[in-house]
Amino acid sequence: MVCLPMIMLAETNSLIQNVKGRNTISLNGKWNYIIDPYETGYYDYRYMPYDESPNPSNGAFYMDLQQKDKTELIEYSFDKSPTLWVPGDWNSQDNKLLYYEGTIWYRRLFDFRKTSATDRVYIYFGAANYESDVYLNGKKLGKHIGGFTPFNYEVTSLLKPEGNSLVVKVDNKRKKEAVPTLNTDWWNYGGITRDVTLMEVTSTFIQDYLVQLKKGTENEIAGYVQLNGIVPQQSVKISIPELKLTTEVTADLTGKATFSFKSKNLVRWAPGHPKLYKVELSCNSQKITDNIGFRTIETRGNDILLNGESIFLRGICIHEENSLRGGRAYSEQDAQMLLNSARELNCNYVRLAHYPHSENMIRLADEMGILVWEEDPVYWTIQWNNPATLSNALQQLTDVITRDKNRASVIIWSMANETPESEARTTFLKKLAAHAREMDNSRLISAALEIHANPANPNERIVEDPFADYVDIVNFNEYVGWYDGLPDKCDQIVWNIKYNKPVMISEFGGDALQGMHGDIMTRFSEEYQENLFAQTLKMLSKIPQFRGVSPWILYDFRSPKRFLPNIQDGWNRKGVISQNGVKKKAFYVLKSFYDQVEQKYKNQENGNMK
Ligand code: GCU
Repeated sequence: MVCLPMIMLAETNSLIQNVKGRNTISLNGKWNYIIDPYETGYYDYRYMPYDESPNPSNGAFYMDLQQKDKTELIEYSFDKSPTLWVPGDWNSQDNKLLYYEGTIWYRRLFDFRKTSATDRVYIYFGAANYESDVYLNGKKLGKHIGGFTPFNYEVTSLLKPEGNSLVVKVDNKRKKEAVPTLNTDWWNYGGITRDVTLMEVTSTFIQDYLVQLKKGTENEIAGYVQLNGIVPQQSVKISIPELKLTTEVTADLTGKATFSFKSKNLVRWAPGHPKLYKVELSCNSQKITDNIGFRTIETRGNDILLNGESIFLRGICIHEENSLRGGRAYSEQDAQMLLNSARELNCNYVRLAHYPHSENMIRLADEMGILVWEEDPVYWTIQWNNPATLSNALQQLTDVITRDKNRASVIIWSMANETPESEARTTFLKKLAAHAREMDNSRLISAALEIHANPANPNERIVEDPFADYVDIVNFNEYVGWYDGLPDKCDQIVWNIKYNKPVMISEFGGDALQGMHGDIMTRFSEEYQENLFAQTLKMLSKIPQFRGVSPWILYDFRSPKRFLPNIQDGWNRKGVISQNGVKKKAFYVLKSFYDQVEQKYKNQENGNMK
């Protein structure tokens, strides 16, 4: 037997896919917290303001002390501190924290015994906004940057059977070099905003995998499995019982195994027929399951083809917020509420703005047959020339593609939203697009591109963004009738879009306070918004390449830029549904437009039984 060098595959903190399909224990619940606006728990008090000499030994350990006797000076005690729900933003849990931007230290105590001595254990975070430093039993596990993507740490050697202390420092301060940067039109919800999970895996386990319909084939399902562990060359079994498909492959020295098999009676996934197959992947004694849909998505000239048929994306934009609660959405119930409302609009598509949403949203979209646009939070005036900013944006894109690449509902990766044109910006976006295509050549690439008026003809709008040459769908936001004139201007606008590609409009709209009524020229009235929708849809329908639209936005949402008293009061009112869940008049204009469009594309959306 050749003795192979003990290689540890993929550094142990590489992102693990499909947590829901594994052996897990939830760490959700009430966590103690200590607010720390001056970073007392992280920096030595003398080095202010935040000079580059942090004193990490002063970190979690400093916060997690127990008083041994009355003479001991303890000023920070989790035991005596209040609690916050995890998952959940802190802003909506306590009015004192509504505007808080800074650091909060969380602590969760837990006991844990492995079911097998040789198993390994990870702690997995669905997301924490924006920068997290994680410690277990006083030892630093790592720092994660990015508020909307998952991360995990191996803790096998650090766990105790009882009294484990998990401390997480979360800092949501906005920064110029961050992604997104300082300025956004959404609430800066901070905290551990998604599930926290303990995951037990075998010593060599399936860390990642891809199972999808091979591009350009009718019924060949192909992909790969990536193992993580010290014995990489293991046999891996992949099965789809309903199709009576099974194959067994052996991973190579890096722990990677590719596979493919053909099915005679594969039923494609489609909005009208969201067929998901149970897929089983096993290695050693561990089996993980997933529910995967098989479809193709591509463009041909001006058309978007789903399973070979031209479709129209009847969409709506969604922020990750449960407006009824006024906080970050995270749960299956939140996802149900948001996607049910989109379904009531007769949507077959949602644009999840402006950052990756929770996995609950994507998995529910798979089940409901709703197509999805996912977006890297490269929003507005990013630091295009900062290498750290680029690697941050690339890492967030990598993590969302790793997490969601097996979800049939996801058809578009968006690189950015409304980013002012410059050479540095287009270079930055091209790198993101190249990376996305390298990771996943099966989906479409787009972004909210820039548009401008023709100086020679004020009623002409031109799309000639240099990044348009690098995307599959020419997509942009436009606000004629709200930020750009009044709704009757829509009738005079001529669109100059010289691309032989599908065109989508990822935002249009205007504010309306639900229940405020007036004539169609009264700003913030429901009638103004209703008329704006009608005029805009008529204008956009004249664009020959028009293949999809997602008006801004499904629900009113909190914004730190919208404070018109008794109208906005800290809310962006462009929702077609109010923060109290009441539909506005514009809702019905959009729905009837989608009913007509659906009729027109009827035969091409109902699950093609290819
Ligand atoms: C922009 C931006 C949105 C913003 C919207 C608005 O297009 O993409 O994030 O909320 O306009 O002004 O309401």
